Amino acid sequence: MDNIAFGIDIGGSGIKGAKVNLDTGEFIGDRIKIKTPKPATPDAVAETVLEILNQAEWEGPVGITLPSVVKGQIALSAANIDPSWIGTDVHNLFQRHLGGREVSVLNDADAAGLAEVAFGDKRAQQGPVIFLTFGTGIGSALLLDGELFPNTELGHLEVDGREAEHRASSAVKDRKRLSYKKWAKRVSKVMAEYERLFNPQLFIVGGGISREHEEWVPRLDLNTPVIPAELRNQAGIVGAAMAVAKHVAP
Ligand code: BGC
Repeated sequence: MDNIAFGIDIGGSGIKGAKVNLDTGEFIGDRIKIKTPKPATPDAVAETVLEILNQAEWEGPVGITLPSVVKGQIALSAANIDPSWIGTDVHNLFQRHLGGREVSVLNDADAAGLAEVAFGDKRAQQGPVIFLTFGTGIGSALLLDGELFPNTELGHLEVDGREAEHRASSAVKDRKRLSYKKWAKRVSKVMAEYERLFNPQLFIVGGGISREHEEWVPRLDLNTPVIPAELRNQAGIVGAAMAVAKHVAP
């Protein structure tokens, strides 16, 4: 089989990876997950990525997501990761730790959005669509006819004087023990602002909490349709693998 690459999704709590069949978007073999090292410095994280690749016995190309703006393969922000990532040449970092193999690094929500376009609901491929992930933060991918405008950071848009992700990420729901009803109100407020400013044709919501979409998506009070992502939490890994296979390196 040729059309295979390895995808790694780096998050605040776990680093996950799997071999991906790029014809179907499915995993080949098990997904491997290792806790994010603390502190999650670039070198420590890169060593954890190597451990995952060694466990999987994979020596080929690797796509990697980061919860950060990645421009010219330099990480430019660090909202939920160690501040030492800012200014890191991530391409160089991972190549150094991973034996010089081919590597592409991109934003986690951008990767998930691209995966959804390729393997998820067909509606992601048409018109202006905002893809959002709800997790430790709120990630965004702005799509037009399936093409990505990279590195949008809608989770940091201020809504009523507070950053959107401080108001309505799923981590906030957990921390404050909010019911779905209460949390959905906060999410509505944030998404209504996105709606007002960007006027998308469709919202797609992903991240772990999209598994429970019946609990909260119907409670959102918006004029734009909202559908759950089809790929759920695997999307980052799939998008990362796609990026390296297509030599996408924002
Ligand atoms: C980061 C984004 C990321 C999102 C989801 C935000 O805090 O700034 O780059 O996509 O969290 O992980």
